[in-house]
Amino acid sequence: MISDRILGVEGSKSVGLASVLMKLRKEGRDIIALNVGEPDRPTPDVVKEATAKAMRDNHTRYSLVEGIPELREKIAQRFERQTGRSISPSQVLVSNGSKQTLYNIFQAMLNPGDEVIIPRPYWVSFPEAVKLAGGVPVFIDAPDLQLPVNAIEAAITKKTKLIIVNSPNNPSGVVYKKSDMKKLAALAVKHNLHIVSDEAYEALIYDEAEKFSFAEMDDEVFKRTIHVQSFSKTFMMTGFRIGFMIADQTLVSAINKLQSHLTGNNCTFAQYGAVAALENETSIVPPMVELMRSRRDLCLELSKGLFEVETPGGAFYLFPKVTNYFERFKDSAEMATFLLEKTGVAGLGGSAFGMEGHLRFAFTASETDLREAFRRMREVLL
Ligand SMILES: Cc1ncc(COP(=O)(O)O)c(C=O)c1O
Repeated sequence: MISDRILGVEGSKSVGLASVLMKLRKEGRDIIALNVGEPDRPTPDVVKEATAKAMRDNHTRYSLVEGIPELREKIAQRFERQTGRSISPSQVLVSNGSKQTLYNIFQAMLNPGDEVIIPRPYWVSFPEAVKLAGGVPVFIDAPDLQLPVNAIEAAITKKTKLIIVNSPNNPSGVVYKKSDMKKLAALAVKHNLHIVSDEAYEALIYDEAEKFSFAEMDDEVFKRTIHVQSFSKTFMMTGFRIGFMIADQTLVSAINKLQSHLTGNNCTFAQYGAVAALENETSIVPPMVELMRSRRDLCLELSKGLFEVETPGGAFYLFPKVTNYFERFKDSAEMATFLLEKTGVAGLGGSAFGMEGHLRFAFTASETDLREAFRRMREVLL
């Protein structure tokens, strides 16, 4: 009954765990969920109020497939403020979360057999979305968690079409070095490739010096880069489902055609909420980033003597190496299951992200919960 296309992909492991946790909680288990890739803070009131007002004002009907003009204009202005590159609002296309943005891009760009380079560790949906478009994921190991530029160059073939770059990275939290991003851009130009730059965590960078966008490079690089961003993490709006791309006009038009048959516009009144988010960015985003920075520092402190971990320069994930526990556990998935069963702390095994030997914990929980989670893990592991 089910198509080969769907049989060939895996369900999202991170989404799948949510229903297991719901069941455990119903059974009365005390769960500390460090598996969740979304801020635990509520959506800001100004955003909720603007969304409710948009509904009262009857912005409840179809809108333009590519997004309401006010939102696309504000996104274009923000992009210019951040990167110094002026773009037309017509280069912006709004979709149902950047998950759909990525899906759209692969559907619009890949022919059967086209290869897409994906550095490991990677966000769970990249390979599956590539496969759904008939593409072939080509994984490149990044043992030091940085962008593996030399190994990427070695893997380029005649069939290579895209390279996915996700910085700050989910799951590692690593912000790729500017110098490596520049080398990668040069590779894309040399080999006539495109870069999909997934910037879902662009606002969550803890050291300002590390901020860098491909858009700051020359026109040749910009032409080859598809910038993918999202309101989900930056503005605590995961349920609004607003993601967008900024790209070359030809690609935006092709994706507009695709989206017109797929979802049409995304929720009209939610887009008005997104406009309010951008208008209030300076009061919304810095406190959230500060909160996450303090939690990151706390987790690093609590990890001492328990986990060997790279300092995450961005996002809200800790990705400790746990191979020193592998005399007790056969792999990271087994270790994550053990921790959930014995301590109620939910994390994810690195294999879900293509990198065995690690666990991923999201520090999207209160300081009290984080302290308690690490206390419990210390108790059963040491
Ligand atoms: C790297 C990365 N890209 C994209 C997304 C998708 O986010 P959304 O669809 O909510 O915009 C996520 C969500 O976890 C992510 O971690």
